[in-house]
Amino acid sequence: MSETIRVLISEEKVDERIRELGNQISRDYEGRQIHLICVLKGGVFFMCELAKRISVPVSMDFMCVGSYGDGTSSSGVVRIAKDLDESIEGKEVIIVEDIIDSGNTLYYLMDVLNKRNPAGMKLCTLLDKPERRVKDVKVDYCGFEIPDEFVVGYGLDYAQKYRNLPYIGVVEGLD
Ligand code: IMP
Ligand code: MG
Repeated sequence: MSETIRVLISEEKVDERIRELGNQISRDYEGRQIHLICVLKGGVFFMCELAKRISVPVSMDFMCVGSYGDGTSSSGVVRIAKDLDESIEGKEVIIVEDIIDSGNTLYYLMDVLNKRNPAGMKLCTLLDKPERRVKDVKVDYCGFEIPDEFVVGYGLDYAQKYRNLPYIGVVEGLD
């Protein structure tokens, strides 16, 4: 059976919510500078849009952590495929992620980054699937809580496809 995409969250709703998150973060960090850390590849669309909505000074870095193969379930194995370019010591870090699912990836990543002595570290995710949580991860800023369905778009992929969709959709017709 071939895959089809059902729209779960429209482009307009995603844009509106990112604007709200940007405003909230700007208020929370008033007078301070934020160091955004994008978790590649999925977080990149969200981080770019979010960064544009933040009114306090922002710097950015990128990290690539993998826990998924080309399938739709977590292997639980986390590896750093690309580390940060700069030190985070003394910086107000916000990790920007596409989705928190089992929590395995972020639990591991936050542990690694906390040991590098940032001034603060918060987590901002576009999507959260709380039903699927295995590891206890505190989400500070969340775009949308979604049910346990496999979603694509806005950076999220299925076998590297659909990242460029400007909305969040559910893949239907998977085996
Ligand atoms: P976790 O370690 O299980 O929390 O998985 C986090 C990562 O799995 C995310 O950063 C995504 O890359 C991927 N992932 C989890 N759920 C989905 C989904 O519904 N669609 C696409 N990727 C997903
Ligand atoms: Mg991700």
